[in-house]
Order: sequence, then C-alpha cells, then structure tokens
Amino acid sequence: MQEKKIPVIIDTDPGVDDAIAIMIAASSGKLDIKGITPVDGNVKYYHTFPNALRLVEFLKLDCPVAKGAETQLEKPCPTTASCHGKTGLGSVELPEPTTPYHEKRAWDFIYDTARDCGGELEIIAIGPLTNIAKLVLEHPDAKDYVKRIICMGGSTEEGNMTPYAEFNFWVDPAAAKVVFESGIPIVLAGLNVTLKTGISFRFIDQLCERAGASPYAKALKEFVSSYSDTHDNKEGEHASVVHDATAVMYAVDPEGCTTERCHIEIKVDEEQYGRSYPTYDDPSSYNTTVITDLDMRRYEQLYLNMMDYFNSFGE
Ligand code: BDR
Ligand code: CA
Repeated sequence: MQEKKIPVIIDTDPGVDDAIAIMIAASSGKLDIKGITPVDGNVKYYHTFPNALRLVEFLKLDCPVAKGAETQLEKPCPTTASCHGKTGLGSVELPEPTTPYHEKRAWDFIYDTARDCGGELEIIAIGPLTNIAKLVLEHPDAKDYVKRIICMGGSTEEGNMTPYAEFNFWVDPAAAKVVFESGIPIVLAGLNVTLKTGISFRFIDQLCERAGASPYAKALKEFVSSYSDTHDNKEGEHASVVHDATAVMYAVDPEGCTTERCHIEIKVDEEQYGRSYPTYDDPSSYNTTVITDLDMRRYEQLYLNMMDYFNSFGE
C-alpha cells in the first residue's frame, strides 16, 4: 500500500536555498504540498512573491501561491541577504509567471487548509515568520489545527547577523516571538545544525555530473553553483550551507535527525535583537524540538533523489 503523504505548506522567501528546499520537498514523494506562501526576507517582497509563482510554474507544482506579508510585523527591515543575488534566485532566470495567485491571504489560506486537513497540516517555514505570526494573531485557534511548524531560523549557538541572531529571526523578531509563544509545536532547524551540515563542494560536483539535459537539472546545477553561503561542515569539507533544506530533511526523514528538547525565548531587546535563547532547566516549559545533527549520507540521498527526479522530467 502506498504511504500516505504528509500535507504541508511551505512558507518561504525565495531565496536560492529556499528554491533547493522546495525542489527537495517536491521530489521526495513523501509530502503533499498544499500551497506556497511567500514572505519578505532574502530579497524584497516584490521579488519573493513572483519568485514563488515562478518556482511553482517551473517545477510544475500543483498548488496555489497565497500572497503573504510585504513587510514585517512591527518594524520594517531594510536589509536583504546578498548571497541570493539581486532577484533572489542567484544566476537562474525563470520566465515571468502567468499563473494567478490565490484569492486568500497567506494566513487565511493556511488556517483554512489546516482545518481542511483535520489537524494533520505541517508548516515548513523557511523565511522570516511574519506570515505565521499573522496566522496566530488573526486565528487564535490555529494551534488546534496546525500539527507543527518545522522552522529554519535562529540558533542555540552563534548567529549570522549578530553574534546572537540568525537572519530569519533577526528580520522579524516580533513575529518569531509570537510564533514561539503560540503553543504550536515547533521543530527548529537553526544555524547550530545548518552550519555543520553544509553540502560539500565535492558532493556538489558529483551531483552536477549526474545532471542530465533537462532544464530542471540545469537550474538545479546553477542554484547549487551560484549560492554563496559557505562554511566548513562537520566532516571538515568546504561546503555550501543550504540552510532551508535541513527543515525539509526533518519533514521527510525525521529518523535521520538527532534532536533535543528545550525552551526557546525570542529576545527583542537591542543587544540580543532576534536571538533564540535556549534554556533546559524546566522540562514543563519546553516549547521546541531543536535539531542538533543530521545523518549526512541520508541527507545527501535526498539531493541525489532530487536530481534523478528532475532529470526524469525530460527536456
Ligand atoms: C536563512 O536566511 C536566508 O538567507 C536563508 O534562505 C535561510 O532561510 C539562513 O540564515
Ligand atoms: Ca529562506
């Protein structure tokens, strides 16, 4: 009997690593992608929104794109992330989208979908948490319907924007605070795991050699080659840090991940702005499952499957 797919919505600010994460999700065979909800983040919303539509069309995903938040919950963030190129998709140029977007706003679309899924919906949140905070604020009973949020953001160790703060939470800390106080179960793929599980350039070469002539394989090759966020991984290899794909890894292969439980508080004071601060002393307060490690061979297998899946799309 065929395994039942997990219903998910991907909340995202595409973003090169977002695009790769979406490709892994689409090719895994384990997820039923119910929709994509773009948010302002890596590049401005006037790029992330059409990028989401472009990706849905290009990857032939059968799901709607519902318009998300153009700016942050309380304090507009002027900064973007240069490693994604000017328009957010690195050197990949996809055609102008022609698909219409969904009539509902992201937070209403997520709420209605969660209700329709009878409590089984999981949100894979790989951008700033503005849309998810709006879901919580505008639909206080959302926690009764959303099964969990698997979120790339924050860190239990060092940050990448400040010594404390990671980009997604630093862009909209007020939103992250709302989400972590919402009562919805959270799985965190923070920098503490993403920085040590980068995809090595040795493996990327292997992946690119496997790429066939299909435009999907070519785009994938360009995505992985043009993304410039790098860090040595735990195997001591120079690697491309595909942060957002680690959240998808947990969604499709939780057994390949090591985790621990803790309480996360989002700091909004000036010095620690956007910090996700873990404490371990009171188990009754725990609100987060933190991913602490990944099985690299299983993680790489997802990339190999993805390349084979998109190679099979033909030219
Ligand atoms: C996060 O910030 C963005 O640049 C990436 O897409 C990822 O979601 C990493 O800090
Ligand atoms: Ca992202």
